[in-house]
Amino acid sequence: MCGMLCAQKVLSGQMAARDFLFRPPEPSPDMLLSSPSESIYVGKTKYLGVPFFWNSKKLLNPHLCVVGTTGSGKSYFVKTFITRASLTLGSSALILDWAGEYADWVRGAGGQVVAFGEEGINLLDLAGSSPHARMTQVMDALRILTDISHSNAQCRLTEDAIEKAYVSAGFKMKAAAGDGRRRMPTLESVQRILERQAKRSADAAEAARRIKNLLLSSGGSFTASTLPLSSLLSGLVCVDLHSLPTETLRSLAGLSILQFVKESMRASQRAQSPQPHLFVVVDEAWKIASDERSDVVSIVREGRKYGFGLIVASQNPTDVHKSIFSNAGTMMLFRLTHAPERSYVRSSLSYSDFYEEESHSLSVGQALVHLEFSKPSACPRNFILRKVDGEELLVTLHLGGGGMDLEFERNELSSRLLSFGLTDAQTRSMLAEFERRSFSLSASEFSALLEKFGHSRASAISLLRELGASERDLLSALAPDSRHQGEAIAILKGDAATKGKKGKRR
Ligand SMILES: Nc1ncnc2c1ncn2[C@@H]1O[C@H](COP(=O)(O)OP(=O)(O)O)[C@@H](O)[C@H]1O
Ligand SMILES: [Mg+2]
Repeated sequence: MCGMLCAQKVLSGQMAARDFLFRPPEPSPDMLLSSPSESIYVGKTKYLGVPFFWNSKKLLNPHLCVVGTTGSGKSYFVKTFITRASLTLGSSALILDWAGEYADWVRGAGGQVVAFGEEGINLLDLAGSSPHARMTQVMDALRILTDISHSNAQCRLTEDAIEKAYVSAGFKMKAAAGDGRRRMPTLESVQRILERQAKRSADAAEAARRIKNLLLSSGGSFTASTLPLSSLLSGLVCVDLHSLPTETLRSLAGLSILQFVKESMRASQRAQSPQPHLFVVVDEAWKIASDERSDVVSIVREGRKYGFGLIVASQNPTDVHKSIFSNAGTMMLFRLTHAPERSYVRSSLSYSDFYEEESHSLSVGQALVHLEFSKPSACPRNFILRKVDGEELLVTLHLGGGGMDLEFERNELSSRLLSFGLTDAQTRSMLAEFERRSFSLSASEFSALLEKFGHSRASAISLLRELGASERDLLSALAPDSRHQGEAIAILKGDAATKGKKGKRR
C-alpha cells in the first residue's frame, strides 16, 4: 500500500475532538496499583493494561458485589480472590455454598468442607447470645423464609412458644448469655408447646404444623448442634448446603450461620485492622441477599470496623438488596444479558454510554469494575477488566465408565480437546461439566456432550481412542449391558478413525 503523509493546519479544538488525544476513562494508576504484599492482584485494565491490585485501604469498605449471568466467571473470580487474599493478606474465608460448586475446589486448596445435612445446628442453641436475642433471630428467619408474617397471631404464638421452651428448660430470657450447663431446648419442644394449644386455637394448630413440616423436611438438621461453629471462622472453610432439599432450608441454614458470624464479629476483640481478616462468601443465595433483615446486610454495615469483608455473588442484580448493591466498595459486573437487569445496574451505579456499550460485549472472565474510593477523588471510578487473571488449581480430571479410568491434568485435556477440533467455547463447557461433576465424567456422558456440540458418534469414539481408551474399555463403556454389545461392536468397527497416541493410564 502506498500512502502520503502531509501536514495540515488544524485548530486545537478540532485536534482535541479526535479520540486519540483522550486518555481512556480508567482510574489513575495510583488508585489501581498497590504493593503486592498488602493487596490482591485481579487482572489488567483493558485499555492501558494497568494491573489492578485490590486494596481495601483505598476503598470505602472491603465488601464486594459480583453480578453476571451464569457462566460469566463470577465463582472463578471469587475463588481466585480468596486464594490470593489468604496468601497475601493471610485472610480466612467462609463460603456458604448453595450449589455445591466450591466444595471440590476447597478440598483441592487444602481447606475444610462441612456438609450441612450430615452436620446440623439446633436453631435454639444460644451459642453465646441471650435467649431473647436468639428468639428474635429465629422469628426473623421464619419471617424472611416463610409466609408466617401474614398472620400476626401465628407470629405471636410461635414467639411465645419459643419463650416457654427456654423458660421451661431453666433459662432467663434477658440473661446476657445462656448458661452453658443447661440443655438447650429445640424446635421439637416448640412444636409440642404449640400442639398443646392446637385444640383451642386454629392459629396454634397452623403454627405447629409449620414447625412440624420444617422439622420433617430437614431430617433433623435443625435440632442438634454438631456443626463446629467455632472452627468456621479461620482458614478456608466451605459449608456445603446443597444436599438440603429445598431453597428455604438452605436459606435457613445460611441465615443461622450468618447470625453466628455476626455475633462473633461483634464480640471480636481484635485491634482494628486495615485489611479484612475474614471474607464471608454468599454465592447465588438470593433469599438471604435480598432481605433487609438478613445478617448479610448487618455485615455490610458493620463489617469494616471489625475486619470482616462480604462477597455477594448473584446472577441477578435485583436479587441483591439495595443497601449491599449501593454500598459495596467494589462492584464486579460480569456479562449481563437481560435489559431490565442492565438498566437496574446502570441506574444504581451511573456510568457512561461508552461503558454501557462496552459492557454488551464482555466475554467470560471480563468485567466492568466500579470502585468507591475511601477518599474523594476526581479520577474515573469505572474500568473494564481485560480478564480475571485466574488462580488455577492443579486438578486431575477423570474419564471413566466400564473398566476405563483415564486421568488428565486440566490444561493437558484442554489442549487435546482444542487440537481435536473443539472450539474454545466447547472446550470450556466440557471442562465446566467435569467441574460440575466432581471432576469425573463417564465415557458415555463425554461422548453425549460431544454429540450435543455437533460431532458424530464416530468422531467421539475416535477422540476417546486418542485419549487412551482401549477397545475393551470402549466396548464396556458404550455397552455396559451385553444386549447392546453387538450394536457397540458395529459402531466401533464402523469407526475407521486412526488410533492415536495413548493417554496416561492409572
Ligand atoms: N477469568 C477466567 N479465566 C479462565 N477461565 C474462566 C475465567 N472465568 C471463568 N472461567 C471458566 O468459565 C466457566 C464458568 O465460570 P464460573 O465462574 O463458574 O461462572 P459463574 O459463577 O458466573 O456461573 C468455568 O469453567 C471457569 O473455569
Ligand atoms: Mg457460580
